Amino acid sequence: MKPKAYITRRIPEQGIKLIAEFCDVTIHPGETPPDEKEIISNIKDKDAILCLLSDRINKNIMDAAQELKVISTMSAGFEHIDVNEATNKGIYIGYTPGILTDATADLAFTLLLSVSRRIVEADRFVRALNWKIAWSPELLLGQSLCGRTIGIIGLGRIGKGVAKRSQGFGVKIIYTNKTRLSSEEEKGLDVEYRLLDDLLVESDFVSLHIPLTKETYHIIDEKRLRLMKPDAILINTSRGSVVDEAALIKALMEKRIAGAGIDVFEKEPVDADNPLLKMDNVILLPHIGSANKQTRGKMSEIAADNLLAVLRGQPPLCWLNPEVEKIKPLTEVKILHNFKRKVKNEL
Ligand code: DGY
Repeated sequence: MKPKAYITRRIPEQGIKLIAEFCDVTIHPGETPPDEKEIISNIKDKDAILCLLSDRINKNIMDAAQELKVISTMSAGFEHIDVNEATNKGIYIGYTPGILTDATADLAFTLLLSVSRRIVEADRFVRALNWKIAWSPELLLGQSLCGRTIGIIGLGRIGKGVAKRSQGFGVKIIYTNKTRLSSEEEKGLDVEYRLLDDLLVESDFVSLHIPLTKETYHIIDEKRLRLMKPDAILINTSRGSVVDEAALIKALMEKRIAGAGIDVFEKEPVDADNPLLKMDNVILLPHIGSANKQTRGKMSEIAADNLLAVLRGQPPLCWLNPEVEKIKPLTEVKILHNFKRKVKNEL
């Protein structure tokens, strides 16, 4: 009998194909995520689940999933999974960091360029037929990048990707991070360390690249927004709740900062009455940091490989809770035999 896997949404085909070769697969139909009730009714007899960041994989779900051996999320973020509960229950968790570094750094930089040069506003201006004079010395003036300072909050993989891109544009880079880099690494990346508040005071652009945790929730709050320069631009491609969105809206309305590029929100999708929707000095995107064909294809492959690896009694390529092995060794979750790994480790 084949292992049983539940996939909570249609993902790029290569991932589904990989899993379907070895497992009986149930895929949640449609575009909208399944709710808790639907997940519970589907997961009861499943050995594995492949989920997305919009699925809350909580204790109730895990209590119902008596056969569950692995949760594989097609995401780098994992705040939607109760990791402690899974680990205590001996459930392995795989995720997909690394592969989306360039895509997300590209998007952060796209937002940085687009907000600072008012690209979306300019496009709307032309389409609305407001362009009446061929060239105007002060039409839609934006801000220069070269010679200015970017403050990167969180210099992990994606933060470093943004640092590299900033170098190409002649931007000075300061950063803050949970742990400071070694001086060799700082030299190599041409970055200078600052405490968070000092970084906010000094930066012309601030880009957030931190996970959402208890410590980072609303790390950018009203008080910290007040430290920023009136010309400063805030870019967020990490998680909505690392910024106090109400405080950000107030800062933008009161012109205490110049603009923002936002891919992630406290509530996704945004409500129709979100004041950000009416602002010209912001660019709003629907959480598309990793959304290019190549990256999403690879994310689905890695998520599938993580799932199959556990069923085969092997460590996932990207393993979130290695401590689980002490509670349930890999030999005890192995139910799949004659499995040849197809995904290369390029991470
Ligand atoms: C993630 O994977 O956590 C991103 O937010 C979406 O790709």
